Amino acid sequence: MLIVLDEVDSTNTWAKEHFFELADGTVVAALEQTAGRGRLDRVWRSKAGRSITLSALFRRVSAGFHAGAIVGLAALEVIRALAPETEIYFKWPNDLYFADRKLAGVLSEGVVRQGELAGVVCGIGINLNQTEKELLEIGAPACSVYTISGRKNGVKKVIKALEKSITECYINYCNYPEKVLARFRAENRLIGTEVELVGATGEVFRARFRDLDADGGMVIERGGRIERFDCGDVRIVVPPETANQCPVTGGNNEE
Ligand code: BTN
Repeated sequence: MLIVLDEVDSTNTWAKEHFFELADGTVVAALEQTAGRGRLDRVWRSKAGRSITLSALFRRVSAGFHAGAIVGLAALEVIRALAPETEIYFKWPNDLYFADRKLAGVLSEGVVRQGELAGVVCGIGINLNQTEKELLEIGAPACSVYTISGRKNGVKKVIKALEKSITECYINYCNYPEKVLARFRAENRLIGTEVELVGATGEVFRARFRDLDADGGMVIERGGRIERFDCGDVRIVVPPETANQCPVTGGNNEE
């Protein structure tokens, strides 16, 4: 089921408030989000007509990070159809990147009832139609489907395509969870590369990203030791191969 709200503070907050009234797999989108939230208590900025802001609720995921994998893979499929000439990949935990710029962010939040995990609300914000100038307001390196493909798309059309893709991916997950998780791992193109990590207390260090573990944490190697990293930020040292890409950077269509 798809619900499209004209305006809401945050689709994640709305979906959590209505979690027990809504059917499993419901997708809630907003044409305008006034108080979007990101990971690590950050603000997620979006403007009407410029970005996709939606959340899906799942009752049948066996681990919180699986929700991010489902929504992320669904978004990857939709974005690849809109910008087929570009190379999009996951940056841990499940941001979508083009080269060293963020295209979309995912926020998964557990819903607990009587001390038990009842499900997960997973929201995604996708930069869709912003120009280079508008992206500067985000304050961190970012791109939009428009800046990487040179094409603008209608928000309602993309919301519908994403809802369809999330529903398909969720059904696949419910039937063959391992297949969906293997695809998610394969799209994490920074695995095997050297990354810079910013820990929860702000410490910065370099390590090799070895793998994802069963809980979605990073298995890293630093100083010859294998460790786990599951809270903080990843910075890209060298973006995955970008050889066959032909990015458009807003070009003559700047507003
Ligand atoms: C991040 O990159 O930090 C995650 C951003 C998640 C933003 C989306 S927009 C839809 C949903 N509602 C929210 O308030 N946040 C998520």
